[in-house]
Amino acid sequence: LRAVAVPVDAQWHLDLDAIAGTNADRALLLWLNEPGNPASQVADDAYFARVAQWARRHDVVVASDECYAEFAPVPATILSGAIDGMLAVHSVSKRSNLAGMRVGFYAGDPDLVSYLVETRRHAGLMAPTPVQAAAAAALDDDDHVDEQRARYADRRELVRNTLGAHGLVHDGGDALFYLWLRVDDSADDGWEIAARLAQDAGMLVSPGDLYGAAGADHVRLALVQPRDRLELALDRLVRAHA
Ligand SMILES: Cc1ncc(COP(=O)(O)O)c(C=O)c1O
Repeated sequence: LRAVAVPVDAQWHLDLDAIAGTNADRALLLWLNEPGNPASQVADDAYFARVAQWARRHDVVVASDECYAEFAPVPATILSGAIDGMLAVHSVSKRSNLAGMRVGFYAGDPDLVSYLVETRRHAGLMAPTPVQAAAAAALDDDDHVDEQRARYADRRELVRNTLGAHGLVHDGGDALFYLWLRVDDSADDGWEIAARLAQDAGMLVSPGDLYGAAGADHVRLALVQPRDRLELALDRLVRAHA
């Protein structure tokens, strides 16, 4: 068994046409993440339908990591067009800021779900009952997700505008809480950009090559600090370049 990275297209979606035929023939599972970390790209149902079609043609199971689905303007899922051979994988870590609970759920093809329930049980990966109850309560409530989505949108606009004025542009989708930044007029090394942001503003971002070679001239900025902390960091940046 081996993992093979799938090339991405210009919008950071997996480019299924770029998968070598030999890899497609041998593949057992395609792992997909839309809306995506780190580029915040958002797939629609038509994209998911193309993925399902590709997977059926090659007899490959799709595991669709949809943990950011509710941060998309229009949530979409691999399950909207197909169930056979499809799994949607969810987590409360992002949707409800409950990463410490280590809980989520999967849904889709009944045979795959039953198989996973059995193997998970024997692997000792059982979520405690109180944790399951808390996750069920979180999943039953949409208001806190709406609030958080609005908070991220506000932070995104603030940081994107200020960084844009300093030549760092966001090169991804308009969902989630990640800015996927590159230098506006050249290809700079992500590690250099990260070092500059740390030195000038005290901002810690992730160099893009941590997510794959295609991101080498990007950095990922996670908008997970409150607005006043972001304002402080941006203010430092403005002063460093005054
Ligand atoms: C793509 C993706 N999937 C899933 C998760 C959440 O994983 P977990 O449920 O293990 O906290 C994250 C969080 O970083 C993520 O970025």
